[in-house]
Amino acid sequence: MKYIINYENKIKKVLNEKVYKYYIDTMGCALNENDSMKYSGILSKMGFEKAENIEDANIVLFNTCSIRENAEKTLYGRLGALKNRKKTDENFYICVVGCMSQQKHILEKIKESYSYVDIVLGTHSMQYFAKSFYNVISLNKKVVEYVEDKDELTEEIPIIYEEGVKASVSIIYGCNNFCTYCIVPYVRGREKSRKTEDILNDIKYLAKQGYKEITLLGQNVNSYGNDFKDNSYNFVNLLKDVEDIEGIDSIKFISPHPKDFSDELIKYIATSKKVSKQIHLPLQSGSSKILKLMGRKYTKEKYLNLVDKMKKIIPNVSFSTDVIVGFPNETELDFLDTLDVVEKVEYNQVYMFIYSPRKGTVAEKMEGHISEKIQKERFQRLKKLADEIIYKKNDEYVGKIYNILIEGKSKNNEDKYTGRTADGKIVIIDAKPEDIGKEKEIKIVSNNKWYLTGEII
Ligand code: 5AD
Ligand code: SF4
Repeated sequence: MKYIINYENKIKKVLNEKVYKYYIDTMGCALNENDSMKYSGILSKMGFEKAENIEDANIVLFNTCSIRENAEKTLYGRLGALKNRKKTDENFYICVVGCMSQQKHILEKIKESYSYVDIVLGTHSMQYFAKSFYNVISLNKKVVEYVEDKDELTEEIPIIYEEGVKASVSIIYGCNNFCTYCIVPYVRGREKSRKTEDILNDIKYLAKQGYKEITLLGQNVNSYGNDFKDNSYNFVNLLKDVEDIEGIDSIKFISPHPKDFSDELIKYIATSKKVSKQIHLPLQSGSSKILKLMGRKYTKEKYLNLVDKMKKIIPNVSFSTDVIVGFPNETELDFLDTLDVVEKVEYNQVYMFIYSPRKGTVAEKMEGHISEKIQKERFQRLKKLADEIIYKKNDEYVGKIYNILIEGKSKNNEDKYTGRTADGKIVIIDAKPEDIGKEKEIKIVSNNKWYLTGEII
């Protein structure tokens, strides 16, 4: 289905072409960030301009995350903080979209406790946003709607990409895995691969605009194409087609599932000139018992074998991962298995999470939930180990020379520039504004724990 611009023009008329400003508060993952870029696209077609901060905005859109309880609490705090402004400013609108609003119990809570919110729309309703806003401003009607997952994707939603040389493109939505801790399959629906042609057209457009690095996004990218009627095209075929696009120098993808990491994919990454050798390979736990309870469909041994195979076949491969600590029934021995895997793989980066029970998931109803004290203590131990490994591994880079794309100015130091090694290490570089977007030979001169510093040679 194609997105049709219709209500956007009607909104402009109702607002008398007066320029309103929007602010999007994005919580959660890269997929939400990608969705927010589409909301920016829709809002700009409605005639809105981006506000620098929430105070200057006439419309605030919260793009919410449900993955852990903290994310949910954050939303309620932020909604509460806007209550007074909503009472006094009749040209101020609040919208809640994204994963939280795809859950009926949360819709009820917002209706009850935050009734001043103007629009609540879930993940399957982005295409109704402009219509909903039109109803709010022309009929003075609040819109709180629940839309079930459906088979068809809406394409050609206007989008405003992030500035710079890197951009992300969604290739598959939803997830079929139902890991027992995870809310994603409930709020994002079943796996739906975008048509290859639509993805490639987006990337060709980005290449023409000067983007150099593309990240392919999905909850489970290596399932790409499994839902196509004819099974002749898969994730590797897509990578090959993206690789053929002129102007794109680097291709990344997040996140793959270890159970779907085929030999064909490993071999392709090994020979590809453009696909990054930094692989994000979510572990979640190093204990086979906990992995079974999580429904991950691999064991500790299978995971380690996969990593070994990749280390042998892919030159200079490196790994990052996600780990959940304190899952129900995790004993000290199970946790030691997690530490063992972290030590063996030597990740470049470990994203660590304390298990958070999610309403409606299988794990929420399991026996054997463990205390917050033990969860926090294990979290700290894991962090210490992961940090030690990262610091030690960084030393190996010092003195070596890498081809690095200068991505832009450093966020923390205006006089410096940033880039990444092919395996994902952040490098702070002495460079000039005209170097942005160019690949340079960089010598790494020091290890600063969280980043490396380098010089153009
Ligand atoms: N509790 C803690 N962490 C979770 N994640 C997903 N669900 C939960 C949960 N209920 C983590 C997983 C996933 C990452 C995006 O978030 O590690 O890979
Ligand atoms: Fe959640 Fe598991 Fe799907 Fe990842 S693979 S989104 S953790 S259900």
